[in-house]
Amino acid sequence: MAHQPFIIIAIDGGAASGKSSSSKILADRFNLLHVDTGSFYRHITYELLRLGVAHADLPAINAALAKLQFTTRLNGRSAQMLIGGQPAGVEIRGQNVNEHVSHYAALPEVRHALLGYQRGLVDVAQAHAFRGLVMEGRDIGSVIFPHAEFRFFLHADPAERAKRRAREGGQDSIAERDRIDSSRKASPLTCPVGAIDIDSTLLTLDQVVEKMAGLIAGQLSV
Ligand code: DC
Repeated sequence: MAHQPFIIIAIDGGAASGKSSSSKILADRFNLLHVDTGSFYRHITYELLRLGVAHADLPAINAALAKLQFTTRLNGRSAQMLIGGQPAGVEIRGQNVNEHVSHYAALPEVRHALLGYQRGLVDVAQAHAFRGLVMEGRDIGSVIFPHAEFRFFLHADPAERAKRRAREGGQDSIAERDRIDSSRKASPLTCPVGAIDIDSTLLTLDQVVEKMAGLIAGQLSV
């Protein structure tokens, strides 16, 4: 069998832009490790809140981060980050984390703590014989993997995204999170130069996936 090159797919976009659903489908279709980096920022936020570390208290943030140990467990094709050997609970999708996560994610200290871990997931994917990795977040195509084979940026009308999130049943001020995520100094949410920009406002999930999959399959022998 011919050697298949390892591929990296970066999918960035705002809250409820369709990143998670589309990246999971691509992971199944192309046998990729799926990585939801938003869940990593959520897990760290939950942990720092549990420890009582305020985002404005940088010495306490640094001291707490130095003690956190990140390891990985696979859940099907998805990478789960464990902190101190513990997986994230459902609380990371709750209102408290929704309200605080952008403030912690804006700290360069927090982003730096996750940088090497996120890049190291290539080794995890290769060790488990995945054909590649699809990583979703806000800075994947700009900072984590700027040389990824495919970089997609998903956006959608804010009203449409609010409707999608409401259908999921969650309480989430996505406009406010996007405002903070886009205006922060450290790795802001932005469409990187050269990335493929997809407006999903009027597209179904299937249509978004087919757009991406068509481009990927065009370069691969699947
Ligand atoms: O994808 P999500 O909505 O679950 O992400 C939660 C928060 O994490 C989001 O408001 C910003 C932050 N985040 C980030 O700063 N960088 C990433 N690569 C992923 C998420």
